[in-house]
Amino acid sequence: MGDQSISSARGHRPRPFAWRLPNVVADTADNWALYDRFLDLAESHRWKMSDIRREIATVDPKILTEADRKVVDCIGEIAIVEGNAPTIVVNQLSVMLFDAEFAAWATYQVGEESKHFHVVRHYCEHVGHEMAAEHTEAGVVRKQKAFDPEEYRNEHWVTLVNLLGETLNVHLYQQLSKIADEPVLKSLLHRISLDERRHQQWFVAYFEKRASTDPGYVAGALAALREMIGIDAPPERNAQRHQGTGSVNYLQATEKVLRHGFSLPIIARTLREQWQILESCFGDELNVDRRQFIARQTARASAIQEQLA
Ligand SMILES: [Fe+2]
Ligand SMILES: [Fe+2]
Repeated sequence: MGDQSISSARGHRPRPFAWRLPNVVADTADNWALYDRFLDLAESHRWKMSDIRREIATVDPKILTEADRKVVDCIGEIAIVEGNAPTIVVNQLSVMLFDAEFAAWATYQVGEESKHFHVVRHYCEHVGHEMAAEHTEAGVVRKQKAFDPEEYRNEHWVTLVNLLGETLNVHLYQQLSKIADEPVLKSLLHRISLDERRHQQWFVAYFEKRASTDPGYVAGALAALREMIGIDAPPERNAQRHQGTGSVNYLQATEKVLRHGFSLPIIARTLREQWQILESCFGDELNVDRRQFIARQTARASAIQEQLA
């Protein structure tokens, strides 16, 4: 299929999506294997928004502790990053649209990320947190990162940003769930963390599937990893590269997590698991020093504040 764009193939005006990836041939035995597997898994774990909304309605805002208020302050900001899911998926699909299994999964994932925005929006509104004022339709639209076909430089960037980003999401929600005192808040954050866990597991399975059939895949991904974390340059101590990168709320959320003193266990657990995933995906080919990786994945409060200024 090569690089031929839809526009030149069909003689129409230029369009942003190009035939960059081949699809699996029609009679390949594992066509849709990951989509089938993860739909089964996702559906067996799926929580219903209507159930959580009923639970939220029972919360007495007066019982929220100081820790709860700080957690809600963080997740109210993170929710807007989740609300960027339409931009995130369209930018990923500008590279991945013609990988049929990836594209099908991406539509599922983006639906769940949007669901995370909405459940937190309902909670903020119910308890009267000031972040609720930011969760309007117009406000969220204004904060969309918007279409940028260059955001993900190639297919490996897409997979790696998701692999590392979903790992951060798992530990972020897990830790905030542990810190929260109010039971509905604690439980909804736990449920979101399980969604993020399944997202992460899909990307690991996808990486393994592609690596097992494409002999150049691991080397290509490794080159992208080194470039993405800037291994050949001094560490910038900025926020980790993530699906939310490019959204100002991603920086604001990072700043709040640091300011409220929640970041240490989140980052320690995230880094430990991110490194384990890299070791398992790349095996002996992983030519990145662990300490150098950690230095590039650990933000410093001053660097975030400078960027926000
Ligand atoms: Fe999410
Ligand atoms: Fe996710």
